[in-house]
Amino acid sequence: FASTHHEDNASPETAVGFDFGGLSRGSFPKNFVFGTAASAYQVEGMADKDGRGPSIWDTFIKVPGREPNNASGEVSVDQYHKYKEDIDLMAKLNFDAYRWNWKGITPYPNLNHYDLPQALQDRYNGWLGREVVKDFADYAEFCFKTFGDRVKNWQTFNEPRVVAALGYDNGFLHLEDVLKLLAIAQREIQPLNLILLLIISFYAMLLLLRDTEKQKGRIGILLDFVWYEPLTRSKADNYAAQRARDFHIGWFMHPLVYGEYPKTMQNIVGKRLPKFTKEEVKMVKGSFDFVGINQYTAYYMYDPPQGKQKDLGYQQDWNCGFAYDRHGVPIGPRAHSYWLYIVPWGLYKAVNYIKENYGNPTMILAENGICLLNGSARQPYAPHSFKRHDKDQLLQKLPTTTKEGDREGANVEGYFQWTFVDNFEWRLGYTSRFGIVSRRFQDPQEVPKMSAYWFQKLQQRHKH
Ligand code: NOJ
Repeated sequence: FASTHHEDNASPETAVGFDFGGLSRGSFPKNFVFGTAASAYQVEGMADKDGRGPSIWDTFIKVPGREPNNASGEVSVDQYHKYKEDIDLMAKLNFDAYRWNWKGITPYPNLNHYDLPQALQDRYNGWLGREVVKDFADYAEFCFKTFGDRVKNWQTFNEPRVVAALGYDNGFLHLEDVLKLLAIAQREIQPLNLILLLIISFYAMLLLLRDTEKQKGRIGILLDFVWYEPLTRSKADNYAAQRARDFHIGWFMHPLVYGEYPKTMQNIVGKRLPKFTKEEVKMVKGSFDFVGINQYTAYYMYDPPQGKQKDLGYQQDWNCGFAYDRHGVPIGPRAHSYWLYIVPWGLYKAVNYIKENYGNPTMILAENGICLLNGSARQPYAPHSFKRHDKDQLLQKLPTTTKEGDREGANVEGYFQWTFVDNFEWRLGYTSRFGIVSRRFQDPQEVPKMSAYWFQKLQQRHKH
């Protein structure tokens, strides 16, 4: 496949002869949802128009040098104006759903994707201030009331771990340097944010149920996860991988499912780890209808010599090393981003882990994808995990419920590709392209890539 197809000449005529590895629409449950995901700042443009006030990202981006070529989301792919065309194209490509908009295709909106209003940052010190809960709840309530007749699947936060770790802890995303220093100085209280976030999402759920009961909405949170594979079979490496999983997804899934942080976190972080009050336990436990999992990659984990770890903020607590295998081989080929190794089986293992450890909750694979080089329309092909035809074929291994009533597999309801059209990528500007559709920015034409046709044709295949 890879050698004969080129993104460059993708068209309905050239998009033939795909290897689906036996997959068809019929391989999935009837109600399985295929969608794409995006976020407002990354695709909308219109940063300061029509009453939209500045968010912390508008502020962050104003400092020269923050992004390659000082890129910003001010215009991006202008979906604020072009959403109709984009959604038409989604429908033509046979997608069922979209994370962000709601015309003609089922909406799965998410209420907050990194872009906290600057006013709340200034007033409350952002997520460090408890008062933000109230404002967030008001906002959620407004959305539920206004759109609840049409929107049934609500998502509250995108990747709160990233906000806490990369925003408030090491400052890579989102915050001015001063705040970063402040957050580091207050590291011992930093996990408190996370409780805040959990309570907020719970509170939002309450509002949803109370005010839009008749609308029968469902609610979930979007959690990022990386599959952590122990480098060797040693006990120490296994424990290292377990630590990483607990500090990463367990930080949220444990409270949501069991009402407390994972034991490894409790042991390692000790007194610095805030405790949930009895009331908070009640609020948080079981307070979701589904979890959205953003899963892109996998890393080998090993147990590093004590004290050798450089300051990685809260990650110091995990004390795990990222590694190549014993032969110096990386875990998979690297996409065009420093963090993304292409490891299709990582998704399978991640899903299975959540299934096994958290009572097989309803899951949506809310993000998965591969980024390409700048100018991807000219790239030879998208080494996209979804269309790989080797034994790692993602969907064949996905332990989803394949037949009605078959509860053997994980309870996965849908798959959202990140992303529909190439767009602004945090800290990488427009150099890193995740779209299955490309838009050359000087030319407003959208060009579906081979990956887009792969999805389109998968939906047309009804038999195995
Ligand atoms: C995570 C984020 O939710 C999204 O905003 C980002 O663009 C993708 N993954 C790719 O890095």
